[in-house]
Amino acid sequence: MKITYYGHSCFLAEIKGKKLLFDPFITPNELASHININDIEADYILLSHGHADHVADAEAIAKATGATIIANYEVAIWFAGKGVNNYHPMNHGGKRQFDFGTVKCVSAIHSSSLPDGSYGGNPMGFVISCDEKNFYYSGDTALTLDMQLIPAFTSIDFAVLPIGDNFTMGPEDAATAATMVQCKKVIGVHYDTFGYIKINKQQAMDNFKQKGIELLLPGIGDAVEM
Ligand code: NI
Ligand code: MN
Repeated sequence: MKITYYGHSCFLAEIKGKKLLFDPFITPNELASHININDIEADYILLSHGHADHVADAEAIAKATGATIIANYEVAIWFAGKGVNNYHPMNHGGKRQFDFGTVKCVSAIHSSSLPDGSYGGNPMGFVISCDEKNFYYSGDTALTLDMQLIPAFTSIDFAVLPIGDNFTMGPEDAATAATMVQCKKVIGVHYDTFGYIKINKQQAMDNFKQKGIELLLPGIGDAVEM
């Protein structure tokens, strides 16, 4: 499965010819100034919560591509109000079959408000299962024991986890999260974008290595085969 990293928590997963874009925050991200959102194709846009650093480019990309926004009820309906025609509301504990595979919404310990201050529902993580690989994107979250439930639902091949600390898990907690979901490969996201979340990457690699987990930190615009 090809994963392309677009900076902060934004990445694109290509599954069965479908393109799933997660948490697009590109145009406001100085580190991603070489990425042009008009070049990004998407069939689905999955939004973990309403914060601007996860939804900034969702409206523009949804309107340009006709992609379906998958998000919690409040976030999905907020985008519908902005004229996004294709959206699919979900909520914690719910699972749904799409043409690329299954999405299950899981707990995240964080907050969620939309850029205009509207109520953004509760933040979520996503477990994606399909014929190729299964993966867990936690969204912004603290380490939580709920993560131990995930391998009971689906065996996870890799996880995409925040490692920037301050607003979310840092590297030590993210490595523990990977242990809880029983996967050996993690793509680290949500780090270095702002001063609050600048990290020592070598230290982060070591935190994961100590637990026998490989931490991948692709460059912005780079793709990795998972
Ligand atoms: Ni957030
Ligand atoms: Mn965030």
